[in-house]
Amino acid sequence: MVKVAVLGHGTVGSGVVELFTQNAKSITSRAGQEMEVKRILDIREFPDLPYADKFTKNFDDILNDPEITIVAEVMGGLSPAFEFTKSLLEHGKSVVTSNKELVASRGAELLQIAKAHNVNYFFEASVGGGIPIIRPMHQCLAANEITEVAGILNGTTNYILTKMIHESVPFDEALAQAQKLGYAERNPAADVEGQDACRKICILASLAFGSHVYPQTVHTEGITGLTLEDVEYASMWGGVIKLIGRAKKQPDGKVIATVYPAFLSSHSQLAGIDDVFNGILIRGNATGDVVFYGRGAGKMPTASAVVADMIDISKANCTSKSLSWADSDGHNVADYKTDPLRFYIRASLLDHAQSTVNDVMGGVEFLSRSGQPEDEIAFVTGQMTERELDSKLEVLGNLIKVKSMIRVLDY
Ligand code: HSE
Repeated sequence: MVKVAVLGHGTVGSGVVELFTQNAKSITSRAGQEMEVKRILDIREFPDLPYADKFTKNFDDILNDPEITIVAEVMGGLSPAFEFTKSLLEHGKSVVTSNKELVASRGAELLQIAKAHNVNYFFEASVGGGIPIIRPMHQCLAANEITEVAGILNGTTNYILTKMIHESVPFDEALAQAQKLGYAERNPAADVEGQDACRKICILASLAFGSHVYPQTVHTEGITGLTLEDVEYASMWGGVIKLIGRAKKQPDGKVIATVYPAFLSSHSQLAGIDDVFNGILIRGNATGDVVFYGRGAGKMPTASAVVADMIDISKANCTSKSLSWADSDGHNVADYKTDPLRFYIRASLLDHAQSTVNDVMGGVEFLSRSGQPEDEIAFVTGQMTERELDSKLEVLGNLIKVKSMIRVLDY
């Protein structure tokens, strides 16, 4: 019998306890032994729950219980989640988590501590909700050199964009629905401003390229500046706008890591991913592109990944010591403006200078939409770095006033 504990009885934590009851039989057969939730840490009271006797407000009840060998940290945030996780690992208990903020900012350190104490720190639920991605990347794709990882990594923003674009639901209403469904972060600014996707791309990039990519080194933009005009131009161009987190290995070994809304062709494997679904594309030098798709947020999908990690630990007896990466000082990340891309620009034209725009930009594809004001132009450039784009726009400074700039990605 394996006894486990759960830190936090919120959306994910309550799902974890529920799964252990609901799927007890199959969990036992897959783990090779019975698994039981012995303790749940939460500062709130839950007197009406049938398992009310398992709750404690005292972390030491879990830390000092020798019977508890695996703990799920599903409380979120950096503190006290970091201190709790560190103490548990140092006390020889394995920890699994859905806490992407913690893994993205202290992952290298916690993985090191886990290794030193011969226990596991697993975080399948931190990226992609219920989609298996960490283990497939680390194990099934282990023979590949991964060159690029890109995806729709935030369910809330994908849900909001889908509602806005296809059902004309206003932004605030779509966000309220996402909160009600348990998709959004406690502070949904982390979703709409891109930080949640940033944390997830940090975890994927660290795992793919072997050195910690920290959130502050990732250029991050959210969806708050998107307009329906841009959505319409994207559609006239033959695509959609999605919030994409990506990390790409450069020939010099450095990584370009970004989060921003991007134009994707409607032929892209990521273009049709709507609602709360996430899609993650891994480009390997042996496999080519592999795409993972599924529910990226929500109580039971995320709980499923947390419990799977606990089952894995109980049956493998802490054998995945290779799940780790080196720490870094930030020099592993390259300047995102050196990445050659195409760019969509929407601007007001201060003079009749369309041909000058075309010449300075080195040839562009002009776009049009219904109801387009006479002084508005929209176009997609050829490939250039963002530095080159900046200097060309400077040359055009007196002729156009840029309203939107959205990168075009080829996936
Ligand atoms: N707020 C996150 C999302 C939850 O919407 O994707 C899952 O990490």
